[in-house]
Amino acid sequence: SELTEVNGKGHMVFAERDVVELAETFQTPLFVYNVEKVRKNARAFVEGFKKAGVKAQVAYASKAFSSVAMLQVAKQEGLSLDVVSQGELYTAMKADFPMEKIHLHGNNKSREELKMALDQHIGCIVVDNFHDITLLKELLKDYNGTMDVLIRVTPGIEAHTHDYILTGNEDSKFGFDLKNQAKQAYDQIQQIDQLHLKGLHCHIGSQIFETDGFIMAIKRLYEVLADWYKQDGFEATVLNLGGGFGIRYTDEDKPLPLDDYVLALVKEVTEEADTHGLSLPEIWIEPGRAIVGDTAITLYEIGSKKEIPNMRNYVSVDGGMTDNIRPALYQAKYEAIIANKARAPKTYPCSIAGKCCESGDMLIYDTLLPEVTPGDILAVFSTGAYGYSMASHYNRFAKPAVVFVENEEATLVVKRETYADVIQNDLSYE
Ligand code: LLP
Repeated sequence: SELTEVNGKGHMVFAERDVVELAETFQTPLFVYNVEKVRKNARAFVEGFKKAGVKAQVAYASKAFSSVAMLQVAKQEGLSLDVVSQGELYTAMKADFPMEKIHLHGNNKSREELKMALDQHIGCIVVDNFHDITLLKELLKDYNGTMDVLIRVTPGIEAHTHDYILTGNEDSKFGFDLKNQAKQAYDQIQQIDQLHLKGLHCHIGSQIFETDGFIMAIKRLYEVLADWYKQDGFEATVLNLGGGFGIRYTDEDKPLPLDDYVLALVKEVTEEADTHGLSLPEIWIEPGRAIVGDTAITLYEIGSKKEIPNMRNYVSVDGGMTDNIRPALYQAKYEAIIANKARAPKTYPCSIAGKCCESGDMLIYDTLLPEVTPGDILAVFSTGAYGYSMASHYNRFAKPAVVFVENEEATLVVKRETYADVIQNDLSYE
């Protein structure tokens, strides 16, 4: 991208560090996070709500990138945390994350997961289905306290994004449909003394740029809340509007400044609450991608090349779908440069391939790079969300290392796996 900083050696600079040196020190493939940028994104949300003068919680959706160090940064920034599994909750415990700021999601929460949430006294469970309610009712018999819950609903909004990451439309495995099931869930929850219903949750999709989807969703939620108020005098104290705020990967992506999303949400909730004569609830959001997505790069070493005349030139790197499955899974687009030739003219048309035994293991189709040589370092931009967190051991690749850079200091925060790590659970059968 044009904004890349370059030093006197012609090397790309990221978070004030020469990335070619980082690749030498920590090896490749390597995720490098600019922690100052993470903090900046987090603060844009938090301060957006402060400016608007409303009570809010900004919960980092840890599925985007969960590690002990990352959750420590989220904690330092005063964020809440969205976890969707026992593993994510366990990571939060290891990061000493304040349990009362944790929200548990999931469309098939297990008994153990829910028990762990109760035992740890997490802040809120987002009830997704009737099975959740049945399990909670049973578990609460052996439990003295109360648990705050939200009801997750599908407001039937189609956000403009890739189909695979649509979760808010009615045909979805998540949540209760607004017309019938939400009220049933409401009735069941209200009959359980130890469950304290705070309000509603919805998540309309991911990598969303427009605010209209959120605004429509808020209107739908208020139709239901207005009914419940009339029927029962119920007033929501929390409205959780999920995550999904988009980021820039390439020029096709045109996100708004993060606090613009916040202002749009606050404005709409305030208006709807007024219209229906309801008091203003706390607004909770759950951004994942928008907090970490544009804060990291992945560094790879370039190896082989295959040139097919009049067709395509394939340039292969030492990672691929095992550290970034998004191009293969969602046809996601990325930009990249050769970090050690950051000023060289881009004259070589090529496509960037991963090294897995799979034709679909491609990172970028049809881009321009400077003339490439084996040993060059490729930097792919905006890989901070759903990269490492979706990494796999396919072809028995070891997962890469993750480095945090802040105040010009680079700190290893996730070690590169060894092959012993990869086979650590294999048992002999001779
Ligand atoms: N809250 C809920 C209930 C969610 O389901 C999600 C994402 C988020 C928050 C965070 O969404 P974000 O702010 O990061 O867009 N693997 C896909 C994205 C899947 C998102 C799933 N849910 C990708 O790589 O694009």
